[in-house]
Amino acid sequence: MREVIATVLENARIAEETYSLTFACGEEIPVRAGQFCMVGVRGFPLRRPIAICKAEGERVTVCYRLKGAGTRTLAENCKIGETLSVLLPLGNGFTLQESEKKIAVVGGGAGVFPLVAAIREYAAEKQIFAYMGFKNRASVCMQYEMQRGEEFVLCTDDGSLGFRGTAVQAFMESVERVRPDAVLACGPTPMLRALKSATAGKPFPVYVSLEERMGCGIGACLVCACEKSDGSRARVCKDGPVFKLNEVIL
Ligand SMILES: Cc1cc2nc3c(=O)[nH]c(=O)nc-3n(C[C@H](O)[C@H](O)[C@H](O)COP(=O)(O)OP(=O)(O)OC[C@H]3O[C@@H](n4cnc5c(N)ncnc54)[C@H](O)[C@@H]3O)c2cc1C
Ligand code: FES
Repeated sequence: MREVIATVLENARIAEETYSLTFACGEEIPVRAGQFCMVGVRGFPLRRPIAICKAEGERVTVCYRLKGAGTRTLAENCKIGETLSVLLPLGNGFTLQESEKKIAVVGGGAGVFPLVAAIREYAAEKQIFAYMGFKNRASVCMQYEMQRGEEFVLCTDDGSLGFRGTAVQAFMESVERVRPDAVLACGPTPMLRALKSATAGKPFPVYVSLEERMGCGIGACLVCACEKSDGSRARVCKDGPVFKLNEVIL
């Protein structure tokens, strides 16, 4: 992990309340899908955790949805040529076993962004079946990136585009046909709870990237602690953000 003073190359709206931010780090940063960065926002003491969508040479792209004051300030005030203090790469990222060849990817809301990185990383060597959920047509983005695999099912809660329903519902309609070796997932907690109960007892592991509130992002403050099923606690920033779904309490 390192701190870089990155230069903003682009910060553009790509869908309703959704922005893509690309910055140059001044050096090549090796990144694994599922890792994240802590982005400094001027005027806020705490950096914001955002998944790394793409890393090519010294250029890193993250996508963020507007949530509160920090992400709104980032969208409004972060202009091309400005500098940002960024910590990266952070967390463990997704690790698939050699034997896991058929991979289902299930994402919802801002959870689709780390999964875009996973599709990019694994599309050449694995069979990818992607189920991605958005609120409505206006919030859909990055379809091109999601279509790299064998199958891509676009879902909207209101049915304004693609499958009407959640990514979990779309995945569960296909699970017996696809028979994945492993699932990668990220999304809001209710979505992950639904996935956990729908996949309980299935013969494949589900690797989930958690989006817990964070302070430091580097394991020092314990703000991000989550409970594990064996009674222990883990730091989402340092021990995760990727865990086996059946090992965490949601
Ligand atoms: C590992 C990880 C990866 C993430 N990747 C993405 C991504 O790719 N795209 C995206 O849009 N969002 C992502 N998030 C969520 C994003 O961090 C929050 O939406 C953002 O921090 C909200 O900041 P805010 O100031 O706008 O909101 P506020 O609610 O005003 O934030 C107040 C404080 O709470 C923290 N906070 C609020 N919501 C979250 C949250 N869900 N997760 C973590 N901290 C939070 C903020 O960092 C800040 O310190 C990720 C979170 C984590 C932990
Ligand atoms: S955010 Fe500080 S320990 Fe995880």
